[in-house]
Amino acid sequence: MTTIDPVIDPTSDYDIFDPQYLLDPFPTIEQIRQSSCPVAHTERWGGSWMPTRYADIVAVAQEHDVFTSRQILVTGPPDGQEPEGAYAGVAAPPISSDPPEHHWHRRLILPFFAPQAVAKYEHITRDLCNELIDRFIDNGEADSAADYAQQIPVRVIATMLGVPTDMSDTFTGWVRGVREAGLVDQEVRVAARGNILGFFFEQVADRQANPREDDLITTLLNSEIDGQKVPVEYVMGVCNLMLVAGVDTTWSSIGASLWHLAQHPEHRQQLRDDPELWPAAVEELLRAYAPVTMARIVDRDIDFQGCPMKAGDRVLMSFPAANRDPEQFENPNEVIFDREHNRHVAFGAGIHRCAGSNLARLELRVALQTWLERIPEFELADPSTVTWAGGQVRGTRIAKVKF
Ligand code: HEM
Repeated sequence: MTTIDPVIDPTSDYDIFDPQYLLDPFPTIEQIRQSSCPVAHTERWGGSWMPTRYADIVAVAQEHDVFTSRQILVTGPPDGQEPEGAYAGVAAPPISSDPPEHHWHRRLILPFFAPQAVAKYEHITRDLCNELIDRFIDNGEADSAADYAQQIPVRVIATMLGVPTDMSDTFTGWVRGVREAGLVDQEVRVAARGNILGFFFEQVADRQANPREDDLITTLLNSEIDGQKVPVEYVMGVCNLMLVAGVDTTWSSIGASLWHLAQHPEHRQQLRDDPELWPAAVEELLRAYAPVTMARIVDRDIDFQGCPMKAGDRVLMSFPAANRDPEQFENPNEVIFDREHNRHVAFGAGIHRCAGSNLARLELRVALQTWLERIPEFELADPSTVTWAGGQVRGTRIAKVKF
């Protein structure tokens, strides 16, 4: 087991995998934000910078010519090179691309995520949520993270991609391999990535041999750019991204929101009394429990807020930190469903802003509404046994509740 040196000064030595930080990063973030250096630095995990103010994080997201998307995971290999492994030429467009390619990489997938396009997944999501609840409602207890939140987005994405939903547990294992264990263990990361791309290699080959009607992978394969069919690596990369970007992000949001609601009967009551609050409540839960931190690689030596950043340095964009900045949000640590101003950045900012936000919002709303309809009263069974994942994507992984 890896032992972690205790953090004495988070402004110069923060550790995003410190157990206390994983459990609750906000006191540390606030400590950094209030210090003389609100852009912290660490040598840990390959080294990185971490701005903590909303304005600085949004600036990093928007200045894409300086802060590139060459690597977007929060930890990198010590020599700065991504492992070659199998399928070395396949990335995760558009999230891994910079302009000018980013433009068409993103344009081709946007139609799949338009509000009308995702609306058809509402009843599938609701049926799925009800089926999951049927499995445990008579027990009077369940793990709101593992038995519920974690089960939903993976099946929705599998349906969207036209791949077998009964492989959901396998997909979940692969995603966790890339975004949890793989962040601190290169071998795990390479193996998980190889599994995902190997699977999509076969799916793409199958569609090439047997094109399907009304099928996302077939549609992508037939897409053209400047009169040319798009490269197969692009199609595999998009499938890779949809699985990785669309699954643990959304399940983490659902899980953290249920964890919150389990402890706040007054908020459950507020939603029962005023169902029109739902859209605002979803935004507020996204703000308060933003799951995603992304990284950028500095393109050239620059001074950013007094910090001497060098070409090749990694910068973390902690959207959870941005969303709790008191300069931007009044009482940022409180969940206020009817908050007047809520320009949160849970979905990022700038050219890479989440392409799947309509789907994510739909899933979050339907998952919480269905739970509250069926299980209006519930509480954490034992708060001390709740576990959180963090680093790249923050959310509950075990959160047992009783009802
Ligand atoms: C609550 C759930 C979600 C959250 C909080 C979230 C958050 C984010 C964030 C912060 C980014 C910006 C990345 C960057 O700047 O490097 C992003 C990008 C992206 N997300 Fe999401 N996401 C969620 C769900 C989804 C879903 C369900 C999908 C659908 C598959 C999806 C697809 C994407 C894609 C394709 C991009 C890349 C856009 C680009 O680079 O132009 N996301 N997401």
